[in-house]
Amino acid sequence: MPRHFVTGTELSAGELHALVDRALELKAAPHASDALRRRTVALIFQKPSTRTRVSFEAGVAELGGHPMVLHTDELQVSRGESIRDTAYVLSRHAAAIGIRTGEDEMVDGLAEHATVPVINMLSPSHHPCQALADLLTLRETFGRLKGLTVAYVGDGNNVARSLVEVGSAVGIEVRVAAPDGYQLEPGPHGILTSDPAEAVRGANAVYTDVWVSMSDDPASAAERRRALAPYRIDDELLDLAAPDAIALHCLPAHPGEEITEQVLYGDRERIWDQAENRRHAQKALLELLIGEHGSPGGSTGA
Ligand code: CP
Ligand code: NVA
Repeated sequence: MPRHFVTGTELSAGELHALVDRALELKAAPHASDALRRRTVALIFQKPSTRTRVSFEAGVAELGGHPMVLHTDELQVSRGESIRDTAYVLSRHAAAIGIRTGEDEMVDGLAEHATVPVINMLSPSHHPCQALADLLTLRETFGRLKGLTVAYVGDGNNVARSLVEVGSAVGIEVRVAAPDGYQLEPGPHGILTSDPAEAVRGANAVYTDVWVSMSDDPASAAERRRALAPYRIDDELLDLAAPDAIALHCLPAHPGEEITEQVLYGDRERIWDQAENRRHAQKALLELLIGEHGSPGGSTGA
């Protein structure tokens, strides 16, 4: 069975720590690995992307492989071919399949039927690749992960959920401040509050994301902006965090909405490092998943 990365919780705490260690090595020596030499990774995009596409495409190339970017409107899925059949065929050619989609069922369907690892490159519910880059950014800033506190302020969305799930696995306390109607569902991890100041007080990092996600109904945008307006990250809110706290944002940013321009480009941000770290973390992930799996091709399915 291939090893998939759909929610991020497929990896143990030990594997996540080792992955971050490996990502640091690959960041210091980007061409040290040819784990994908002469192999292809299919990267399916049903939604727009800047960082995910660029970091996967560059990362696969640095590992010696070929990134095959596929837009769903150019694939036969757009004409009704099933995800199952798409998974069977891609598995015969690619060493791994990444997918960014507006339908969680598409990731789940690929993972069910593919005979190579499937990587969730963002779905409405999860963004685990982002969480890996976040761990790497925290680790290189603070030298550790366990015992850190991260305050996520804003919409309780895919990025917040993955941060809670993956962050808590490595011993980070994640607090999520969101208004009623925009909060994550209660779970075993994550401390949920509606008060940004309460979440941020003493935190090592303060994190936010857009108020209107790609899978949100555009008609809800004005209402979302109204409800989330008190959840903007600004210098005053950051001042409540630990003295050496950093500001994080998965990007794309909307300065003046979820973050002020002063914070986005200020001296406490690690946001641009965080964007770079997507590549290093995902290279370590590809090594882990593909190293365990072996060659593409399938013995199951059609
Ligand atoms: N953070 C992130 O996933 O960015 P993109 O949407 O540009 O890929
Ligand atoms: N929550 C955002 C993240 C973008 C990287 C979205 O899903 O659009």
